[in-house]
Amino acid sequence: MIRTRRLRLTPFLRDLTSEYRVTVNDLVMPFFVVEGQKKKEAIPSLPGIYRYSPDKLVEEVEKIHLEKGIKAIILFEVSRNKDKTATASRQENGVIPRVISLLKKKFPHLVIITDICLCTYTSHGHCSILTEEPKQRKKKNLPDTVATDNDATIEVLAKMALSHAKAGADFVAPSAMMDGQVGAIRKRLDTHGLTYTGILAYSAKYASHFYGPFREAMQSAPGHGNRKSYQMDFRNSREAIREIQADIQEGADIVMVKPALAYLDIIQRVKSSISQPVAAYNVSGEYSLVHHYKNGDREVLIYEIATAIKRAGADLIITYHAAELADILNATYQNLQEKRE
Ligand code: PBG
Repeated sequence: MIRTRRLRLTPFLRDLTSEYRVTVNDLVMPFFVVEGQKKKEAIPSLPGIYRYSPDKLVEEVEKIHLEKGIKAIILFEVSRNKDKTATASRQENGVIPRVISLLKKKFPHLVIITDICLCTYTSHGHCSILTEEPKQRKKKNLPDTVATDNDATIEVLAKMALSHAKAGADFVAPSAMMDGQVGAIRKRLDTHGLTYTGILAYSAKYASHFYGPFREAMQSAPGHGNRKSYQMDFRNSREAIREIQADIQEGADIVMVKPALAYLDIIQRVKSSISQPVAAYNVSGEYSLVHHYKNGDREVLIYEIATAIKRAGADLIITYHAAELADILNATYQNLQEKRE
C-alpha cells in the first residue's frame, strides 16, 4: 500500500508540503472612479464594491495599500460623458489622470494600472468607434455584425493610454480587443519618451456572460448587438495562444486571461507557452456567484478559488475579493489554520 495520507496528517505537514501559495503580492484590486466629491455609490450587483469620487478613492486605497499591503490597483472610469467618438476618453485633465497624480503623491510605490477601453465613453456602449450604425447596415442588407472601426479605434486607445502614462500610470491595460492595440500604444508611449510605462494586455479576453455586474457598475452595456466580433469565442482555446503571441510581438509586458475561474485551462495553456508573466482576471460575475454562495465558509471559498487560479499558472490575480483576501492571508497563523480545518 502507498500511504499518501502520511503527508496530510497535521496542519504543519500540509503547510510544509504545499505546492502553491497565494500571497498579498499577487493581488490587484479593481476600483471604479466617478467625477465629483464625497461620492461612494453602491453597485447592487457587486455588493461590497463601490464607485468612488477621487477624494474617497484615496481614502479607500490608503486602507487596502497601507493597512492590508496590496501593492497594485487597476482603475476604471465610470463616465457619464458619452458620445459616438468617445471624446471623454483621452482628456489630459480627465478624472483618471487626476486620480493617478493624487495617488502617486500619497503612495509613491503603489503600482497603478489603468484600463484602456472606450465602452464607458461611447454612446452605443461598444469598445470601439463604429463606421456605421446597425440601422444603416440593415438598410443596405449588409450582414449583421458590429461595424467596428478597428484602425481608428487603436489610435484613440493610444491617445487615451498616453494621457494616463503622462499622469504617471505604471501600466496601461488595453481591453478593447482591437487588432494592433498593443502595438499602437507601445509606439505612442515610446515616441513620447514613456519607454518604462508597461503594457498589461487583456490578450485572451473572451466574450463572456460573466461581465454582467461590471457592465452595470460601468453603465457600459452595448446598446445594440454584442461584443462577439471583437472578444473571443469561448469555444476556442488555441486562438488564445495566437492572441497572446500577437500581443507579445507588439510589446506586451504582461498578458492576461479573462475570465479566470471558468478559464483555468486557458491560463495553464498560456503559462506553458510563454515566459512573460500571466495575469488572470477573476471577473465581476465570478465574484457575484461567490457572493451568493450560502452553504459554506465564504472566506475559505475565496481562498480556494484564488489558489486554484494561482495553481493554473497565474502570476497575478485581478480580483474584487482582493481586500478580503488580503485579510484572510494576513490573518495570524492560528486563525487561518482554524479556518482551514
Ligand atoms: C472593458 C472591460 C470589461 C471588463 C473589464 N474591462 C467589460 C466588457 O468587456 O464588457 C469586465 C470585468 C468584469 O466583469 O469584472 N471592456
